[in-house]
Amino acid sequence: MKRVLLINYKAYKEAFTKGVDIANAAAEVSKETGVDVIVAPPFTMLKETKDLVKTIAQGVDEVDPGAFTAHITWFELKQSGVAGTLLNHSEKRYTYSKGGEIAYDKLQQAIEKCKAAGLETYVCVENLEEARKVAAMEPTAVAYEPPELIGGNISVTSAHPDIVKEFSDLIKKNSSSLPLIGAGVKRAEDAKKSVELGAEGVLVASGIILANDFKAEIRNLASAMVN
Ligand code: G3P
Repeated sequence: MKRVLLINYKAYKEAFTKGVDIANAAAEVSKETGVDVIVAPPFTMLKETKDLVKTIAQGVDEVDPGAFTAHITWFELKQSGVAGTLLNHSEKRYTYSKGGEIAYDKLQQAIEKCKAAGLETYVCVENLEEARKVAAMEPTAVAYEPPELIGGNISVTSAHPDIVKEFSDLIKKNSSSLPLIGAGVKRAEDAKKSVELGAEGVLVASGIILANDFKAEIRNLASAMVN
């Protein structure tokens, strides 16, 4: 099975100024290492990267095409030629407009519509309870990202190794989804440890998007998961 390095560009300025170069570097490292290096650029860049390297969107709404201003539909993603999408990232959770509770029914609808359209689904979760719920929806991958560590220098693998292990076991035991982890992953040893703890790959944003030598960072992280 291929390991995964998913590079989330978020809405960083650098995503727009360096995004194509990052996609080219991702493609090169993917060939060198055999790791599935995937990029998730902003929506307006999807068409720029999709022919360079495996590209997914940063999110999708659960609605079908129609009168839904500013929504992103599965149809739009399919038309744009991307391979899939992230869903439920902690910076863009599926919530109800009133109450702010997580809308698992909407999330499930979105996953099912993407699946029917042949789009891969990478669903973020914040804890084990949520991981259990999402695993039952059988997305392509479930990604554990504790929000308090996102964007920082302490990796989830150092802060919560026990949870990473329990999460990876739980996903493998209860679903056919890939267990991925993210938040604060910056060093080769973080990526290596994620695999040792049972994950099949990592999600990284700031450690690559904000790095001067992003290609070296992509190479370090990818190589660490296969060596
Ligand atoms: O989706 C990945 C992301 O949330 C992790 O961000 O900056 O901690 O690598 P970062």
